[in-house]
Amino acid sequence: MQPRLRIGVLFSRVRVEEKWIFGSLEKRGVEYDRLDDRLIHFDLEVPAPWRQYDAVLERSISYTSGLYALRVLNALGVPTVNTAAVAEACGDKLTTSALLARASVPQPHNALAFTPEAALQAIDAFGYPVVLKPVVGSWGRLLAKINDRDAAEAILEHKATLGSVQHSVFYIQEFISKPGRDIRGVVIGGRVLAAIYRKSEHWITNTARGGAGETCPLTPEIEGICLQAAQAVGGGVLAVDLVEHPHKGLLVNEINHTMEFHTVQPLTGIDIAGEIVNYVIEIARERQKEAA
Ligand SMILES: Nc1ncnc2c1ncn2[C@@H]1O[C@H](COP(=O)(O)OP(=O)(O)O)[C@@H](O)[C@H]1O
Ligand SMILES: [Mg+2]
Repeated sequence: MQPRLRIGVLFSRVRVEEKWIFGSLEKRGVEYDRLDDRLIHFDLEVPAPWRQYDAVLERSISYTSGLYALRVLNALGVPTVNTAAVAEACGDKLTTSALLARASVPQPHNALAFTPEAALQAIDAFGYPVVLKPVVGSWGRLLAKINDRDAAEAILEHKATLGSVQHSVFYIQEFISKPGRDIRGVVIGGRVLAAIYRKSEHWITNTARGGAGETCPLTPEIEGICLQAAQAVGGGVLAVDLVEHPHKGLLVNEINHTMEFHTVQPLTGIDIAGEIVNYVIEIARERQKEAA
C-alpha cells in the first residue's frame, strides 16, 4: 500500500477554482489542509508543521504572499506547485520576457528603460502605438496604450511622479493589432490540456475586464508554442497567453503561474482542477519516493 499523502493548499479566498480543487482532493480521498494566507505565519525556527507536507499547491491571489510562501517552503525542502523559481519567472513580465528571449520563444518586441527620458527614446524608436505595462500586475490593470508622443510624455511623467517604486521600471512593448481576441493555453506537467479564445471589443481582453471565453481548437502550432513557453520558465501548472500577430504569427504575451480557470474548465469540459490535483499528487509521490 502506498503511504498516505499530506497536501497543503495555500489560498487567499475560496473562489470557484479553489472549490473545484478542494472537491477533487476530496474525491481522491487525499488528506489536505487549507492554508489561508491571511491567517498563517511561518516561524522559521519551527519548520516541522510545514515539513509534514509532501507538497503544497499555491493559489494565493497576492503575487507577493504567494512568492514569499513558496520561497520559504522550497527552502525548507517542501515541494510546491509551482516552484518559487517558476513564480519568480512568471510573476515579473520582464523576467518572463528575458527567459523567453533566451529560449528563442516568439514574443512581442519589448524594451526596458529606467528613466522617463530613456523610455521616451525607446518608445520613439518603436513607433506608435506602444503599450506600457507594470512589470508586476494582473487582470489588465494599469496597462497603457500610447498612441502618440504627447500621450507618451504625459504617461511617463505621471508614472515618474505618482507611481510606486515598481513604476520606475518602464516595460515597453509593441502594440499588436490582434483580431479582437487572444488565446489562453493551459499547460500542466508538459502537456497542453486546453485552449480558449478570450474575445473583447476592447484591446485588453482579460476575462476580469469583460473578455468572453470561446472554444479554441488546439492546433499543433498552439501546442508547440505553449510547451516551449512553459519549458522556458521551468514548467509546472501554467496558463500561457498568446497573441496572434498579423505578420509574425503566434507570440507569447505572458505566462501565469497561479492561473484562473473559471472560464476554460466549463467551456472545454476539461477537468482542469482534477488535472492540477493529479499533478500535485505526482509531485508529492516523487518526494515520498526520494525520502524512502
Ligand atoms: N502589446 C500588446 N498589444 C495588444 N494587446 C495587448 C498587448 N499587451 C497586452 N495586450 C492585451 O491586454 C491583455 C492584458 O495584458 P497582459 O500583459 O496579459 O497583462 P495582465 O497580466 O494584466 O493580464 C492581454 O490579454 C491582451 O489582450
Ligand atoms: Mg494576462
